Amino acid sequence: MKIVILGAGGRLGAALLREYREKHDIAGFNHAQLDLASLGDVRRTLDAMDFDVLINAAAFTNVDASETERDRAFLINADAPGILAEICNAKEAKLIHFSTDYVFGGEKRAPYTEKDQASPIGFYGESKLAGEKNVLAAGNGHVVVRVSWVFGPDRSSFVDAMIKRAQQDEQINAVADKFSTPTYTDDIARMLPQFFNRRVEGGILHFANTGRCSWQEYAQWALDCCGDAGIPLRARTVGALKLSEMKNWIACRPVYSVLSTAKYADLTGTPPRAWREAVADYITRFYSQK
Ligand SMILES: NC(=O)c1ccc[n+]([C@@H]2O[C@H](COP(=O)([O-])OP(=O)(O)OC[C@H]3O[C@@H](n4cnc5c(N)ncnc54)[C@H](OP(=O)(O)O)[C@@H]3O)[C@@H](O)[C@H]2O)c1
Repeated sequence: MKIVILGAGGRLGAALLREYREKHDIAGFNHAQLDLASLGDVRRTLDAMDFDVLINAAAFTNVDASETERDRAFLINADAPGILAEICNAKEAKLIHFSTDYVFGGEKRAPYTEKDQASPIGFYGESKLAGEKNVLAAGNGHVVVRVSWVFGPDRSSFVDAMIKRAQQDEQINAVADKFSTPTYTDDIARMLPQFFNRRVEGGILHFANTGRCSWQEYAQWALDCCGDAGIPLRARTVGALKLSEMKNWIACRPVYSVLSTAKYADLTGTPPRAWREAVADYITRFYSQK
């Protein structure tokens, strides 16, 4: 199968490239190699290529910068995915486009399903929701995969920042009143091929590790795993911060954005593994060597 991966220099894109490199005919583009803000370049480059699946893991992911650079966020997160879907239609290729739990407003207290109404409260989420709509409007069996709190070895994320802080400081804190679920890039990379040749009813699929946690619980579990793996830390416990104390954040963020993976489990017969298991696996595999 011929696969093109956009965002191949990012946390998720790099993991996908690693996982598929040996099994498929892969071409990957990082930001410097193909800028999604240059729609003409995107068309010219991809029109000239032959592929079966195009995976878009590129995005303007800075939630706060999306508030001040709205046009740019919209161009990359909404306009470009629509163009990608058109390019795929012309080739009868499939587009797999990644989106986010931030398309939800956070008012629910039970996991969001694919049928729940998206109502973002920040411009990042708005731009990503517009991108989803552009992809789905193009038809042709494209898939939007929403993921949450993505972590993995290819680019530092919240969990890495917490571990680093715990190595430097005796007291660390994290927000305790905001809930979602961490999602391991390796788990995304391993599950995704099931959808290379498969239509998903409604076009949207949620994937995250199972369970839910606050950032404080997530960070505490990471420190506990480091303790078990013998990784030296100065801080052992994570104190609680309130979302309302995060004065330097520009964008509003949903307080609850847990994604239901029931549809994924129904389609594949296997639920994703629990977030604690995925984080423990990440820390033992990659952290103890750092
Ligand atoms: N990270 C999360 O917690 C999270 C949560 C929910 C959903 N998601 C979604 O998951 C997907 C993958 O995110 P990620 O975690 O891998 O984030 P990431 O590490 O920030 O990766 C995004 C990649 O897109 C690239 N990019 C940005 N602007 C671009 C442009 N104009 N043209 C081409 N490439 C561009 C970035 O390159 P530069 O860094 O060089 O700009 C980066 O390599 C995205 O769709 C994101 O919305 C992520």
